[in-house]
Amino acid sequence: MAVARTRSVALVGVAGRTVEVEADVGNGLAGIHLIGLPDTALSEARDRVRSAVVNSHYPWPDARITVSLFPASLPKRGSQFDLAIAVAVLGAAGVVPAERIAEPFFLGELGLDGRIRPIRGVLPSVLGAAQHDGDVMVVVPSGNAAEASLVPEVKVVPVGHLRDLVEWLRKGEIPPTPEAEEPVEPPQSGMSPEVDLTEVVGQPVARRALEVCAAGGHNLWMLGPPGTGKTMLAERLPTLLPGLELDHALEVTAIHSVAGVLPSSAPMMSRPPFVSPHHTATTAAIIGGGSTIVRPGAVSLAHRGVLFMDEAPEFARHVLDALRQPLESGRVTVSRAAGSVTFPARFMLVLAANPCPCARAEDQAESCTCTPTVRRRYLGRLSGPLLDRIDMKVTVVRSSRRELLADRQFVETSKTVAERVLVARERAAKRLAGTPWRLNAEIPSAALHADYRPPAAAMRPMTSCLDSGALTARGLDRVVRVAWTLADLAGKDNPGEDETNAALGFWLGVRS
Ligand SMILES: Nc1ncnc2c1ncn2[C@@H]1O[C@H](COP(=O)(O)OP(=O)(O)O)[C@@H](O)[C@H]1O
Ligand SMILES: [Mg+2]
Ligand SMILES: [Zn+2]
Repeated sequence: MAVARTRSVALVGVAGRTVEVEADVGNGLAGIHLIGLPDTALSEARDRVRSAVVNSHYPWPDARITVSLFPASLPKRGSQFDLAIAVAVLGAAGVVPAERIAEPFFLGELGLDGRIRPIRGVLPSVLGAAQHDGDVMVVVPSGNAAEASLVPEVKVVPVGHLRDLVEWLRKGEIPPTPEAEEPVEPPQSGMSPEVDLTEVVGQPVARRALEVCAAGGHNLWMLGPPGTGKTMLAERLPTLLPGLELDHALEVTAIHSVAGVLPSSAPMMSRPPFVSPHHTATTAAIIGGGSTIVRPGAVSLAHRGVLFMDEAPEFARHVLDALRQPLESGRVTVSRAAGSVTFPARFMLVLAANPCPCARAEDQAESCTCTPTVRRRYLGRLSGPLLDRIDMKVTVVRSSRRELLADRQFVETSKTVAERVLVARERAAKRLAGTPWRLNAEIPSAALHADYRPPAAAMRPMTSCLDSGALTARGLDRVVRVAWTLADLAGKDNPGEDETNAALGFWLGVRS
């Protein structure tokens, strides 16, 4: 009887957890038994591993082989354990020295011909392996090498074929780690890099709202007739945002890696994502889901960036209502029969809406024939509890002829606004130093009341709104957060009555 052990990584949401893989070659009826994998994945892995070994011209043990994956409680769906299983079997069979496979982590799917195929979620898997003390070595498919190399202080060994890996393990000569590639900015979905705020004519209120959103990480609703520039404005929000700091870039990249949407040539996501799902999107597409492997949805792909829902009332009601949990907590839990998975989902929500379903108000109000009831019902799809979580609501009106004819050279560029946003964000980050938060929108209610309460005089404008019921407790928190951002933009140490008044105006915003 011979036993060999090695390691791999399982993904729970976007967290990588160590899995011990043990192979035992012994007496008994020839065959391979896998313990600790779900049934379907089990039989598929068994077939792939056996074919890959045989087609790489190594002897497959003519004995009873038992492979166990620990801990059994971890969800181990997917094919990333193939490589570790193959290596453990070859170790137990004496084809490769067992002591050389005990320490490294092996990640990769095997093709029937022995090729090692790229997998989803390499970055979070390598991050998981990196949590172990001492020197960590991770063997990954060559197709994932650039992504794996984003993790500092880990020895990444890319391999393309099982044969190369076995020869390397036999000789004990570790191939050199490839140079980490310079992170290149990937194309951001839905946003062309050339857009600029200068292209938007007029709309001073919406512009200001975008700037405040960008500075504090707030949510925004824009209501207005078709053709007034709502979509244009929303698409220019990313141009006001600073690049992601390294820890956030890794978080965002990990989510996109698990979703399988990371470009292999330029793996690091260094810009905030901009995600703009179509209004026909399903709950699974927005929130996350899938039958076997749970994948992150749009709310998680927009983590640390912008989720733009254009023509918001056209989305299914249950999709809109499902946004409430991530808006409140910054994370989303997807429940499945096999268990639930939690993904990060802290995004700025931008909603755009026409006042009625006909979208015909192109030139005059007369061209729209929708009754007040139809209009009310249309906007009513955006429920009270959802709108309660939108910090700022603005009405976008048609630009006047004077605005359209005004000299464009005085229009501010995205760069100018982005510079003010950055200064405001730095003020907030300095105040929030030592806390887990960097933006005002992230401050939880309890901390807001305990540590970041504006002076009493500044709170005065809110009292009558609270008394009349126009402002909810949740709304009050959102007004205070926006007031802090307005103070940061104004270079003040505390929000005054001007800031809370303006924030209250943004909160009450659209009255339809
Ligand atoms: N404020 C504006 N400034 C410049 N162009 C505008 C403006 N509003 C609308 N447009 C023009 O009209 C088109 C439609 O604008 P869009 O942003 O899609 O409007 P909405 O989303 O409000 O229906 C734009 O592509 C642009 O050419
Ligand atoms: Mg539009
Ligand atoms: Zn209408």
